[in-house]
Amino acid sequence: MITLSVIKADTGGFVGHSAVHPDMMQAAEAQLKERKEQGIIIDYQVARVGDDIALIMTHRHGADSELVHRIAWETFQATTEVAKRLKLYGAGQDLLKDAFAGNVKGMGPGVAEMQFEERPSEPVIIFLGDKTSPGAWNLPVFRMFADPFNTPGLVIDPKMHDGFDFEIMDLRENKIARFRTPQESYDLLMFIGSPNRFVIRNVYLPGGTEPVASTSTQRLSLIAGKYVGKDDPVLIVRCQSGLPAVGEVLEAFTQPHLVEGWMRGSHCGPLMPVGFEQANTSRFDGPPRVVAYGFQVNRGRLVGPRDMFGDPGFDRARQTALEMAEMMRRMGPFEPHRLPLEEMEYTAMPQVMRKVQHRFQPADQDAGEAAGAR
Ligand code: 13P
Ligand code: 13P
Ligand code: MG
Ligand code: MG
Repeated sequence: MITLSVIKADTGGFVGHSAVHPDMMQAAEAQLKERKEQGIIIDYQVARVGDDIALIMTHRHGADSELVHRIAWETFQATTEVAKRLKLYGAGQDLLKDAFAGNVKGMGPGVAEMQFEERPSEPVIIFLGDKTSPGAWNLPVFRMFADPFNTPGLVIDPKMHDGFDFEIMDLRENKIARFRTPQESYDLLMFIGSPNRFVIRNVYLPGGTEPVASTSTQRLSLIAGKYVGKDDPVLIVRCQSGLPAVGEVLEAFTQPHLVEGWMRGSHCGPLMPVGFEQANTSRFDGPPRVVAYGFQVNRGRLVGPRDMFGDPGFDRARQTALEMAEMMRRMGPFEPHRLPLEEMEYTAMPQVMRKVQHRFQPADQDAGEAAGAR
């Protein structure tokens, strides 16, 4: 059994929230190289999108390993040091706690991990999103594993006819539930259609225990109780041989959808699939985007990465995303471009409200009294 761990954090932006400084990438690289040479991890890749660094690691310590989480924590400490030295923006942004406590979950970084028996060939795609939030994967993951218009394999490949089990998480109540597609698709959609509360955490073969897809579900604002950056998520998907083909998995991103997390984590915008060279979020700190790192896992080694969206085949999707971005930007500070009030109540709204609270008087009071309260 091998474990694939993807742990990501924003430990400082260059410039603003747009990218990661090359010296930070080097610092992370040096840390993981040493752990590989020590034999603690089998292989690694330091990846990034926008201002987020993702540590992709393979090892034999299982999910939630203290050893592996400590490596990630120490690596992010090292990249934070570089960010502080260069006075980069928001140094250590996602590290919400001072001291490591055994597991980075709940400490800020986003985590997706899966333990599995490597197949004769093991193609894996790791998606990294910036200026978005965990629920962003709900729609594309549903398309990959449950929509035959996206994934003809569901119809053509007899091995896929039994469908898949989706494990979803209620982020408010901290509860999980499983739904089987296709028979329970409508029940599932009822929940995952509200991606700021219900997120797909894992996908399994029917009745399975080894995930075939896994996401990060941590929400910083729910951890910290205030706005502190926007939980930019990761997604791991295994492909082929009874699972969606690589092209079916990628196809799920060709019709951009609106996600939360643009500008100040408070706006909604299209999720644009981009190649590694275009992974810098600048326009209005975005638009939200996703990169795809493709690997063939070979006895735990990460053969890759291939830049899966670095293909003119996705130019049309990028164009569509830009048109959607234009349309949303016209709304300025109005919903639905700006997030609904309910979402803002977890972030910026309470501070504004405190300042002007006393002005709000019962509506049946006469105008003179209301003016007096100003
Ligand atoms: P597998 O059934 O081997 O995954 O092949 C299907 C395929 O690659 C079609 O694109
Ligand atoms: P990050 O969460 O990627 O740091 O973005 C913060 C933001 O909202 C910038 O506008
Ligand atoms: Mg940032
Ligand atoms: Mg980010």
